[in-house]
Amino acid sequence: MTEWFLCMDSENPSPEKRLEGKKILLGITGSIAAYKSVYLCRFLVKEGAEVRIIMTPSATQFVRPVTFATLSKNPVRISLAENDEWSDHVEWGLWSDAFLIAPLTANTLAKMATGMADNMLLATYLSCRSKIIVAPAMDLDMWHHPATCQNLETILSRGVMLIDVVDGELASGLQGPGRMAEPEDILEYTVKLFSNNKPLQGKSVLVTAGPTRESIDPVRYLTNHSSGKMGFALANALADAGASVQLVHGPVDEEFRLNSSIKKHPVVSAEEMLTACNYLYEKIDIAIFAAAVSDYKPEEFTMQKIKKEDGNTLVLRLKKNPDIAAELGKIKKNKLHIGFALETENEIENARKKLQTKKFDMVVLNSLADEGSGFGYDTNKVTFVEQNNILHLELKPKAEVAKDIVNYIVKKL
Ligand code: PMT
Repeated sequence: MTEWFLCMDSENPSPEKRLEGKKILLGITGSIAAYKSVYLCRFLVKEGAEVRIIMTPSATQFVRPVTFATLSKNPVRISLAENDEWSDHVEWGLWSDAFLIAPLTANTLAKMATGMADNMLLATYLSCRSKIIVAPAMDLDMWHHPATCQNLETILSRGVMLIDVVDGELASGLQGPGRMAEPEDILEYTVKLFSNNKPLQGKSVLVTAGPTRESIDPVRYLTNHSSGKMGFALANALADAGASVQLVHGPVDEEFRLNSSIKKHPVVSAEEMLTACNYLYEKIDIAIFAAAVSDYKPEEFTMQKIKKEDGNTLVLRLKKNPDIAAELGKIKKNKLHIGFALETENEIENARKKLQTKKFDMVVLNSLADEGSGFGYDTNKVTFVEQNNILHLELKPKAEVAKDIVNYIVKKL
């Protein structure tokens, strides 16, 4: 092993320590790929990172903790309490600039998705506020199992980053995807994550997200099923790409894990959303309209609760809400505007109409007809519609759709 390290070091001298000053938690779970994390740990240290290791109890069956303790020059944590002392998963979680879980087994993945905390690694994951990156490793059918796919979608939708498995011969002898990425590739991914090469650095982006709520009387309102997942994922992807993000969002039920640089502006109604957007608009370069804004609101707000009366019907008169995207479209000049379209029929045609009426440069079309798409899901299947171009994308986690939109913007700029 020593010879191998010497060989690597001399062949790839790393004069500049690319992770100098970075604090990296390396989590290791019980997979045969754990041996690769020995090299990963060494590479991270060589690049100047301060590394702390957490192993799940089953990981220790594959590699002894003393190996990692020696390489990281730090004690290894396995249990929530060691030698009758609390391991302080909270401090470990808050200490890190990135929590890299490699290898990630199907078992730990499932526990991360459901929020279990029955070991030090999982409790630290739940307490961690930094970037979380996972490099899964498992056998072919475990990787393809619907439960694994769903668990992965769940954690990705919450902002966890994925270093995908690679194809090859697996421990079982089966051939296919499931091998953990090579330690060199995981290292490069980590370095890139911290590099200053942020393609949207210096750009300011306005994102609208979630539903709006239009009050009828003091106890009732009109709204829709938007959860905010798509818009919040976009805000995170933009901030990860270096943009300064202003997120104007309607009432959402979920506590989203948000990049700490994002400025949130919670609003309730479409009118309030327009006011917030108008206020922020002058200083932004790009606007993305992911909110599902109520097109109509009650003509009048009734001060007292509307009483049930005789008869089977009640007429509620509605009036049009302002169209935020169209209003800002009128003054956009050379800013980039990306809209969403949620359609149920004549999708491309309707999306193209919105390009014109709302002065969008591109419309992200999602259809309620596509399984796993639109409101509430962790996934979305979208089509990028421009006046002369159409790009159909496959069903994927909203976090990945958000990255596709960021890549589109980077190319466009
Ligand atoms: O929040 P999720 O549960 O994750 O769901 C995501 C989503 C389905 C809400 C999102 O992907 C989406 O499609 N958002 C736009 C939904 C919508 O209102 O579509 P629309 O076709 O009615 O509006 C077209 C565009 O005009 C949208 O960019 C919308 O934000 C904007 N608009 C619409 C009406 C209005 N009064 N003001 C607006 O700015």
